Amino acid sequence: MFQGLVTIAYIVAALFFILSLAGLSKQETAKRGNVFGITGMGIALLATIASANIQALIYILAAMLIGSLIGARLALKVEMTGMPELVAALHSFVGLAAVLVGYNSFLKLAGHEGQLLSGALLTIELTEIFLGVFIGAVTFAGSIVAFGKLRGIIKSKALSIPGKHWMNLTAIVTSIVLMGFFINAGGSMIYLAIMTGLSLLLGLHLVASIGGADMPVVISMLNSYSGWSTAAAGFMLSNDLLIVTGALVGSSGAILSYIMCKAMNRSFISVIAGGFGNEGAKVAKDEEAGEYREMSPEDVADQLKQSSSVLIAPGYGMAVAQAQYPVADITRKLRDMGIKVRFAIHPVAGRLPGHMNVLLAEAKVPYDIVLEMDEINEDFPETDTVLVIGANDTVNPSAKDDPTSPIAGMPVLEVWKAQTVIVFKRSMNAGYAGVPNPLFYKENSFMCFGDAKSTIEKILKAM
Ligand code: TAP
Repeated sequence: MFQGLVTIAYIVAALFFILSLAGLSKQETAKRGNVFGITGMGIALLATIASANIQALIYILAAMLIGSLIGARLALKVEMTGMPELVAALHSFVGLAAVLVGYNSFLKLAGHEGQLLSGALLTIELTEIFLGVFIGAVTFAGSIVAFGKLRGIIKSKALSIPGKHWMNLTAIVTSIVLMGFFINAGGSMIYLAIMTGLSLLLGLHLVASIGGADMPVVISMLNSYSGWSTAAAGFMLSNDLLIVTGALVGSSGAILSYIMCKAMNRSFISVIAGGFGNEGAKVAKDEEAGEYREMSPEDVADQLKQSSSVLIAPGYGMAVAQAQYPVADITRKLRDMGIKVRFAIHPVAGRLPGHMNVLLAEAKVPYDIVLEMDEINEDFPETDTVLVIGANDTVNPSAKDDPTSPIAGMPVLEVWKAQTVIVFKRSMNAGYAGVPNPLFYKENSFMCFGDAKSTIEKILKAM
């Protein structure tokens, strides 16, 4: 009877998770989506703790208390710009949990529980354990490399070892063969341990081989893997809610990866296989680029006053500088002067999906003037002035013009087609992908150097 109530609670929690995903898909309903997610997780935790399978409740409560304190501290401390690396770190925990659950299930099976299973049931249990540990170990190792890349501890450039695809393929085929041996032997620690080592190396290598502008896809892909690890853990623990939740996370992460690949004109398979086709890419030398021209904040103010249409292309630098507030102020001011102002948002601007939308919403910029790349790209030729605020890779013309560029083929905001482009950044340094940007040297481009927030404030003052 009591177990029946737990099952009902699990179904209700799963429904809340589905409502949460639906809510999170739109900016207007995102807050509600979060509340649904928190409610679902609260119900799931209570039901699990109350379920009959739980022993030694005190240890679980102590672990939950410690975990909640660490989680709350991290959530309060983390900046918006640090979110992707936090997410990567959390994915690594999910992977590690799946590996630990796998080993625990195996040890139980190797002990007295193994005698209770035989034939097909034993094969299914062993397959679940093997696959769970495999997916978990790939997720764990891959997420740690992703964390390092996003933190800047590891270079974001793609690692390119000759024959890397063969190495990945060999690791996968060897793991499949090991799975055959593992099942034939009725479960054996040695095969499980060798596969764990191999899959850890595979995870490290897979993510190390993906670099630069493809990193957004890695994050959502690891998100998907962490979902499948959760589902695998659910099978091993015979926990339906973990299976359902894992499948939701796994499939939504996979869909997001696909959408991002489309936005960046990358093939999904080539990204997850570690940058197929990137081998010939070369990074252009900066000296080949030419001369650039500068504009002072006062000149920018004059230029804006003479414009009738202005487009703002924000990027990661706006987030770092927290320049969204003065940007919102200048938008209001220009609109009050009768100047048409709109925002052009690239799908991977910043460091996480929807990064710019969240910042602009935070600064109360009206939704209807914030437009996606596809909606606005054709309007640049009719625009007087474009302000590129801390964006770099997402406005790089070499993605269109230079087939040898590492970001070749990625759709970009075609800001250079406007009459005048003003780029706000602190130096001539490259963006996340490490690729020089010919935009800075175009005849209609001007650099306005300095921290984006203080520069925009100076422009506001001059206006
Ligand atoms: P980026 O190419 O990363 O360039 C940001 C620019 O901002 C830098 O060139 C930097 O130049 C400037 N900047 C930094 N701090 C600044 C400050 N305080 N004031 C003014 N400027 C500042 O930006 P993007 O165009 O948004 O492109 C995003 C890149 O990140 C893409 O390559 C994308 O693939 C990658 N990525 C995206 C995601 C997601 S999901 N959005 C996740 C991971 C990676 P200075 O140093 O000269 O100031």
